[in-house]
Amino acid sequence: MTTSTDSAPLSQDALKTLVGQAALHYVEPGTIVGVGTGSTVNKFIDALATIKERIQGAVSSSEASTERLRALGIPVLGADQVASLPVYIDGADEIDAHGYMVKGGGAALTREKIVAALAERFVCIVDESKQVPTLGRFPLPVEVIPMAAAQIARRFEQAFGGAARLRLKDGQPLVTDNGQHILDVTGLAISDPLAFESEVNQWPGVVTVGVFAHQKASICLLGTARGVQTLNY
Ligand code: 5RP
Repeated sequence: MTTSTDSAPLSQDALKTLVGQAALHYVEPGTIVGVGTGSTVNKFIDALATIKERIQGAVSSSEASTERLRALGIPVLGADQVASLPVYIDGADEIDAHGYMVKGGGAALTREKIVAALAERFVCIVDESKQVPTLGRFPLPVEVIPMAAAQIARRFEQAFGGAARLRLKDGQPLVTDNGQHILDVTGLAISDPLAFESEVNQWPGVVTVGVFAHQKASICLLGTARGVQTLNY
């Protein structure tokens, strides 16, 4: 789908709305939809509400998305109630030319990976500011068991020269939906996302690393000044 933009350039918010609406094309009637988290996904949820009679419901990746879905009258099922999903729709903080992503800016990365793993296709919805040649520009979110946070921060420094900082909210460590903490790691250039994800995932105390390479995007709906572009990987 391409939308003409002869007049004023579209704002980032307008691009998010466009890709959120475009994602409806991938929702199969009568099925359960995997739903991610974030401001772009909120646009998708709003669009999904307009066709809610045509779907069975959603599996959500965060308390925030669950609340929004339910407020709009969309039934939410637990991830343990389904064996598979035709599609998972989510945003990203970065996406490269292979469909590898960094996610977790909204601290929902663990549940996002769990729900994405149930899905046959991952449709990533982003505006073009999220496209990168190499992952690592955005501080990499890593969900960690609190007692391991300092150890994991040292390991990022030793292994990759990265600087890890504990994410705070209102001056206190942010607590995820899973009761854990988030490290944000800067100074990385992730040239081999598959190997990087595999390595960091097996460090003791790491719950989930925000590199989505083993579960990369199948399709990206990219919001651009020229409209929505569809990228297949
Ligand atoms: C949340 C995420 C989001 O997908 C990511 O942060 C992008 O969010 P937004 O659409 O608000 O830019 O990974 O954990």
